[in-house]
Amino acid sequence: MSSPQFVPVTAFDLVVFGAAGDLSLRKLIPSLFHRWRDDQIPAESRIIGVSRTPMDDEAFRALALKSFREFHPGESIDEKEWAAFSQLLFYREVDASAEDGDWGSLAEALAGGESKQRVFYLALPPSLYGAVSANIAAAGLKSPGARIVLEKPIGHDLVSAREINEAVGAVFDEDAIFRIDHYLGKETVQNLIVLRFMNSLFEPVWNANSIDHVEITVAEAIGAGGRASYYDKAGALRDMVQNHLLQLLCLVAMEPPLDLEPDTVRDEKIKILRALRPITRENVRETTVRGQYGQGAAGGAVAPSYAEELGASSDTETFVALKANVDNWRWKGAPFYLRTGKRMTARYSEIIIQFKDVAHALVDDKGAGLPPTRMVIRLQPDEGVKLLLVTKDPGPGGMRLRYVPLNLSYAEAFDARYPDAYERLLMAVVRGDLALFMRRDEVEAAWRWVDGILDAWGADATPVHHYAAGTDGPAQAAMMLDRDGREWYHG
Ligand code: BG6
Repeated sequence: MSSPQFVPVTAFDLVVFGAAGDLSLRKLIPSLFHRWRDDQIPAESRIIGVSRTPMDDEAFRALALKSFREFHPGESIDEKEWAAFSQLLFYREVDASAEDGDWGSLAEALAGGESKQRVFYLALPPSLYGAVSANIAAAGLKSPGARIVLEKPIGHDLVSAREINEAVGAVFDEDAIFRIDHYLGKETVQNLIVLRFMNSLFEPVWNANSIDHVEITVAEAIGAGGRASYYDKAGALRDMVQNHLLQLLCLVAMEPPLDLEPDTVRDEKIKILRALRPITRENVRETTVRGQYGQGAAGGAVAPSYAEELGASSDTETFVALKANVDNWRWKGAPFYLRTGKRMTARYSEIIIQFKDVAHALVDDKGAGLPPTRMVIRLQPDEGVKLLLVTKDPGPGGMRLRYVPLNLSYAEAFDARYPDAYERLLMAVVRGDLALFMRRDEVEAAWRWVDGILDAWGADATPVHHYAAGTDGPAQAAMMLDRDGREWYHG
């Protein structure tokens, strides 16, 4: 069942716009280093960093190394290895948003690379995607087969997402546009499809006849910190739900695809997005909770409030909980509860499939009910899958019951390093594998549903409830489930 670890890619020229920024230095360059170290990147490939910051190749290489050390403190770097890798790194100072932004120097750097796979990675604010695409074409840099990678968020609502898609689509064909949702590159997220559809056990019970409800929690321990000024315009709904949580929901809820071709899977996902019951002004208070962290104990110290980090008071939500209904045959009556927030108890992402109660208790449960069968899919950290079952507590006499997990821990089962999602995604772009990226209609369908919530919040003036940093979010999130006779799973 094992297959080669790395699928080799052809030589490429990757242009990273926004190369001096956080994403590039924290994620992209380190991921490329790891792929290079594993021999996946052919030596003729080049990584050309572009931004407005004045720098030469050497300064960029030094900055990349310094950042690697800062963001990967636990990893020792072999200086010789890094020196060899850094020969692939180049830098050009270009104002990508301006047509006359010294594109000539980038053209010069790319010269001679026409036969290689060319990739433009826009680690830039989405408002620039259209202009930069047009400038790439105007500078004559769009070689045949060139691809473009767009970071999320694609816009801040449906209208702006459409504008971006139109503007980029005027230059690049849809199959050359790679819209990143880095959750789709995570090992355990990929495993959702395998777990559901490559084991015969689950699919027959994967519906509202057997499942009571599904919970999806993406909790973060960090605050908005240095990103507060971006974050304040977005909030948790746009930053996390519109993309990551809805993608997870789609993978859990979708019908079995016929195969794993990109469009086959994306066709199934979009059906789920279209089946989401709209949240309206009339039901927004029962189906959503907005929260914002205040001061609190986190990581052994007193963490500042969001307003303190931002330096102003704000109505932006740093936490959101939602009750989503998928209106189709499979899920009628089994809601999906989603929640995500910053400065929660810890960083963890989990999907809980809670099955229905047993029809009849064979023992006197004193009215408490037996705990339900639950499947806990742990996406990060401590990746794994647990099936929580009621079993007999061993021992003579009596029938004592215990709720214990059948536990698949990835760390115990596999002796493998988990690549960062960006490692997989970057190589998928070079290979032209669109399966892990979002299609235009998917992004727009997700915005359509999220726009409905934003409108309802606006019309209703839905309040933001404060929660102490280092907690599970505001009490209202627990109350939302309590009204349905349910509670969030606490592992
Ligand atoms: C990003 C969000 O998309 O995902 C961030 O913009 C968030 O706000 C991050 O912190 C979480 O990603 P991960 O991989 O750490 O779960």
